[in-house]
Parts: sequence; structure tokens; C-alpha cells
Amino acid sequence: MNPDLENALTLLTRGGLVAFPTETVYGLGADASNGAAVSRIFSVKGRPLTHPVIVHIAHTNQMEQWACNIPESAYLLAERFWPGPLTLVLKRALGVSDIITGGQDTVALRIPAHHIALALLTAFGKGVAAPSANRYGRLSPTTAQHVLQELGDDVDMILDGGSCAVGIESTIIDLSGENAAVLRPGWIPIDQINATLGTTVIGATASSPRVPGAVHKHYAPKTPVILIDSKRLNDVVYRLIEQGERAAVLAYSSAPINSTLINWYGAAQTAAGYARTLYAMLREIDGLGCARIVVETPPQSFEWDGVNDRLLRAAASNED
Ligand code: TXA
Ligand code: MG
Repeated sequence: MNPDLENALTLLTRGGLVAFPTETVYGLGADASNGAAVSRIFSVKGRPLTHPVIVHIAHTNQMEQWACNIPESAYLLAERFWPGPLTLVLKRALGVSDIITGGQDTVALRIPAHHIALALLTAFGKGVAAPSANRYGRLSPTTAQHVLQELGDDVDMILDGGSCAVGIESTIIDLSGENAAVLRPGWIPIDQINATLGTTVIGATASSPRVPGAVHKHYAPKTPVILIDSKRLNDVVYRLIEQGERAAVLAYSSAPINSTLINWYGAAQTAAGYARTLYAMLREIDGLGCARIVVETPPQSFEWDGVNDRLLRAAASNED
């Protein structure tokens, strides 16, 4: 066995924290059946204990260890999208601890599509609890270097799998209630989920399980972000220049404006390309010391839902 993998397994078995790559973002992993190890995830992230974590597994036959009353729809989605950027929220099985579920009666499960994650999960043979490997409320890491910048020595080991191919967190679908509901949009367009289920998934409702990742201030760089539509972009940027403000612009379709005060970035034109580079770009821009990040609103069609959701949350962070 690869020595890094062996080392990671030993650490997980002993209750250590191992950051590992997935196709979406890097996860901060611990043995999901070890309460003390999972608690350490919360203290390292600075994450409130009421926020549940996703349990990562290697095979669909492990679902029953964590969930009960699993509906047929869960197997349909698992068959179609796992391994992949999809998380299913199901009724928790007896004995699944409150630290995993945030005290709710549901548990979130996912099989990630990354060869290192799958090798780790298969060899470990048990569930690995893993939120994104960032401090609470911050941008998720999409490279091993980002994890190191975020967590430093607080993590026992970082498995390096290069840049994440998807770049934004998984789509979360709640199957614990009467109607399938999307709790967090991601890379998989909702029409594909609907087509697989043969129904229309609803948005989160008041009775849906809480998804604290859906709190407004989340996925945010330190620099304030404003989202501006293409029609107003030039006006806004010229006004900032007039005011002598240093700003970064993440443009989608607008032509660059030349000014020493402006750092201009052209975003990818496809939803997949945009998602893949979004967090790395925001992280880089965050290091420039600008007063503001101006993001030109990308298209609003289904496939852009995940990207638009993260941009809205990043922009919401300057409301409080
Ligand atoms: O792509 C991903 O999902 C990544 C990689 C590492 O797998 N993980 C991730 O984890 O984004 P985290 O903890 O940053 O976000 C997980 C989200 C949180 O918003 C959490 O509240 C929600 O999933 N969640 C976890 N368990 C839940 C449950 N039982 N019911 C409702 N939401 C849940
Ligand atoms: Mg997160």
C-alpha cells in the first residue's frame, strides 16, 4: 500500500484528523464512529456543534449502517450519481451519534468520486466524517496548499490530490421527508435529479433538516464581495475608480477596464469551469488587499445554480 495512505489509515484509526481530496473540495476527515475524533473536527474548524457533518462511505451497502427507512429514491440517486458530488440526507440509524447529526434525526451520506478518497474509504472500511477543510464560514479549499494555509498544524496529515475537479461543494438532497428537497445546490443540475426521480424536487421548507452551511454568511472571502449585473458593471467600476478605491473585478462577459486601481479577472465561460476555479480565484483575490471584490453576475440557468448560490453567500457576508 502507498505509504501516505497507510499513514492516513493509522491516523484515522487512532482518532487523528486527515485532510483528503474529493472531487468537490478537500475534506477534513475523522473516524465517524469515534466521537472524540469528530469533536476535534469541530474545535479545529471553530464550527458550532449544532452543525451536522457528512459521513463519507465507499459503497452503497454501507448506507444501512448510518441510515434507516431508506426510500427507493435514495437508491435511484445513488445508482445514478455515486461516486459523485451528491449528498443524501436520510433518517439516521439507531446509534448514530448527535455529534454527527447535530442532534437532528437525519444523517448526510456521500460517496465521493476521487481515487484518493475512495482508496482511503475502501481501506478504512468505515464511515469518515468530513466537512470542508476550512475554518468555519470561510472559503472551502480546492488544493492541498489551501488546506495548509487554512489549518496549518491543526490537521495531522494532508493527502495531496491536486486541484479538485468540481470545485464547489456537493448538491445536498433531503430524502428524509415526504418530498425530496434540495438543501444545497451544487454541480449536478436539479433537472438531472428530477429526471432520475421522475418528480420535481422542492426547495428547502421550514420543516426541512437544518443546513447550517446555508446560513447567509458562508463561503466568504475576507474582502467584501458585491454582485453586479452586466448592465451596471461599468458604472459601478468607474464610480469606484473615481472614489480612488482599489477593487478586484471578477468579470463574466464584460471587456476589461484599464486602471491601476483595478485588478481585472476574466471568469470561465462554462458553469463547470467557473465552479472549478471560483474558490481558488476568490482566495487569490483576497490576498491582494483590495477594498472590494466586484463580481459580474453570471447566467441564471439551472446549471449555474451552484455557482450563483455560492456567489450570493459570499456577497451576503458584508450584510453583517
Ligand atoms: O462536497 C462536499 O459536500 C464536501 C466534501 C468534503 O464532501 N463537504 C462539505 O461539508 O461541504 P460541510 O460540512 O462543509 O457541508 C456539509 C453541509 C452542511 O451545510 C451541513 O449542515 C449539511 O451538509 N448537513 C450535514 N448533515 C446534515 C443533516 N443530517 N441534515 C441536513 N444537513 C446536513
Ligand atoms: Mg463547509
